[in-house]
Amino acid sequence: MGDFGAKKFTAKNGEGFTVRTALPNDAAQVLTLNKAIFAEAPYLLTTQAEFTITPEQEQQFLQQTLDAPGKIALVAATETEIIAFLHFENGHRQRIQHQGTLSMSVKREFRNEGVGTALLKSLLEWAETNPLIEKVCLEVFADNIPAINLYKTLGFTEEGLKKRAIKKSNHDYHDLVLMARFVD
Ligand SMILES: CC(C)(COP(=O)(O)OP(=O)(O)OC[C@H]1O[C@@H](n2cnc3c(N)ncnc32)[C@H](O)[C@@H]1OP(=O)(O)O)[C@@H](O)C(=O)NCCC(=O)NCCS
Repeated sequence: MGDFGAKKFTAKNGEGFTVRTALPNDAAQVLTLNKAIFAEAPYLLTTQAEFTITPEQEQQFLQQTLDAPGKIALVAATETEIIAFLHFENGHRQRIQHQGTLSMSVKREFRNEGVGTALLKSLLEWAETNPLIEKVCLEVFADNIPAINLYKTLGFTEEGLKKRAIKKSNHDYHDLVLMARFVD
């Protein structure tokens, strides 16, 4: 089951926050966070216009994630709000269910405070004790330096490069770096 429980952390600025399993009743706050991030973050696949999920769909998505043995959704939250979200999903077929892909984002005002590190460490802790999961993978824009730094710090290595995988507009192409970390 996609459940991490909860763990307390302290940000670089001294503020406390908790990393915990995202629950279906977090749906509205997770949606608000993701909408804000899709509107400003340049290194994401989904555009703001494409992000049309309703609160009901988000709630269903979080419930399905909670119920699945190889999936997990985590939030980082202060006393008052959800400030970051991470989702990990393993493969749907038998031969790829030992590995999965993560995506994550931190609310703009809370970046570079160690929140992303805490979220990803929590995912790796969950994955290391999950009997199904052996490998955590991700794809990141080659020019997303803060994200690549974070992944390398936590032991991810580069496995390849998908050239011009992203076309943001005419002549605006970006490469995608494939990264992964074994957790078995
Ligand atoms: C990528 C992201 C999740 C990182 O979260 P975060 O909370 O800022 O991460 P942390 O503060 O734990 O760590 C960021 C690291 O990048 C480093 N960093 C930040 N900006 C940097 C830059 N311009 N150049 C080099 N390193 C940089 C920080 O110093 C920090 O490393 P350190 O802990 O060794 O000092 C966050 O920036 C984000 O949400 N970005 C928008 C969405 C996104 O791009 N998601 C990733 C998709 S693959």
